[in-house]
Amino acid sequence: MAEELQSENYLAEVRNQYEHLPYPYRDPAQEKDRLVKTVGDALPFLNHYAFGGRQQYDDFRVLVAGGGTGDATLFLAEQLKAFPKAKVVHLDMSTASIAVAKERAEMRGLSNIEFRHASLLDVTESDEEYDLINCSGVLHHLADPDAGLRALKSVLKPEGVINLMVYGYYGRQMIYRMQEILRDLNYDGADIHTQIERAKMAFEAIKPTSWGPLAYQLMQIETQHHGDHGLFDMFLHSQDRAYTMPQLYEFVENADLQIINWNNGNLPYSVWTQADWIANPELRAHIAGMPERQRQAVTEKMLGNMMKHMCLIAHRTPETPSPEDAEMVPEFAYYMQGHIQKYANALTPLEDGKQVKTQIASLEFNWIITPFTRVLTQHILTSPSIGDLLETCYTLLWDEGVPGLTRSLMQQKWLEYYAQWHQHQLLYLRHPSSPAITIR
Ligand SMILES: C[S@@+](CC[C@H](N)C(=O)[O-])C[C@H]1O[C@@H](n2cnc3c(N)ncnc32)[C@H](O)[C@@H]1O
Repeated sequence: MAEELQSENYLAEVRNQYEHLPYPYRDPAQEKDRLVKTVGDALPFLNHYAFGGRQQYDDFRVLVAGGGTGDATLFLAEQLKAFPKAKVVHLDMSTASIAVAKERAEMRGLSNIEFRHASLLDVTESDEEYDLINCSGVLHHLADPDAGLRALKSVLKPEGVINLMVYGYYGRQMIYRMQEILRDLNYDGADIHTQIERAKMAFEAIKPTSWGPLAYQLMQIETQHHGDHGLFDMFLHSQDRAYTMPQLYEFVENADLQIINWNNGNLPYSVWTQADWIANPELRAHIAGMPERQRQAVTEKMLGNMMKHMCLIAHRTPETPSPEDAEMVPEFAYYMQGHIQKYANALTPLEDGKQVKTQIASLEFNWIITPFTRVLTQHILTSPSIGDLLETCYTLLWDEGVPGLTRSLMQQKWLEYYAQWHQHQLLYLRHPSSPAITIR
């Protein structure tokens, strides 16, 4: 029996869903084998884009609003373990979801999490303020998402950041078509179990139709990971809205907040905010030349696969660290470090001039090995600062007798190297006073 909430500030039907079918579906026993890493919650990434690379984490306060079964909470709590005064508050209105999150945290031996059974619409009543608020896949399930965002803003520190995910309108068209069908079928107010059974029958029925295979495939992927919990969350939700790019800007700016960065995990938005994916040079140039928001709006429609909008939002856009600042420490994204280490071990002057392909998820990077990219790759993971890295590389290249070598050429080659990875949000900067965070 779900514990009562001291508030009526939530949708009863939505709560009922998550009490019966906590989402995402997670088996706490799996904590022994792997840590789920959530998009946009890696602290080195947030440190660069939101905290100028200078975050100290001492009293770091995190709110995971609508934290569900705990993915983001655990990932953040693991990263903050070394800071005894840092704390993660996991807030959700579903007792069942909190119970799963708690069990997972116990499996990991985490003691830096506070669990709060509440509606996020009531956070304004709390006096605590947060450096980071994670709110992923939640606000689009509220009756009034704007009120939800305003509530979160009211507890965001002036320099704090919100990692937000809301649904994308065009990417979910197939889902909305199926939701409509299932609403038609469930006109009689069927219970959760009946709705699920009808959905399964409906998917079998539409499978051979002209549009069915794609919807069926979506359902299969979702249920492979999350079973009936996923089926209901995606196709039977009672409260679900999505945003186009212009609507997303309006949503954020109506709350007097700003989008400060896009974070689409391994597929940064640069892929689609630039027009590189368009083969025709004339159309590519036309789209690339548009004002940013217009380009994003048309690209979202043309691609049609943005099921989620993931971004960092804040009171104002902070300054990000500069690769020209010799004091800064360069840090690759945790999922890049293995690739870079592999190249660092393998590269020799014999490879100079070769083209290398690095595949990360569906992103492909082509880069040319030159003496500069070779030595930078070999020393970037171990150098304590950009200044140190450039000095090491300069000395090595000088010994190799690289023609035309000057310190200013070394600096220029570094800036090119940095830009190549940074444009895809794979390389960040941290001030040496800011503690390094290791993610495994
Ligand atoms: C789709 S799940 C997402 C869970 C988690 N954020 C994640 O990405 O894994 C939505 C969660 O939001 C919670 N939720 C919805 N409305 C809420 C509200 N008003 N206050 C607190 N939690 C809410 C639900 O109980 C559910 O656990």
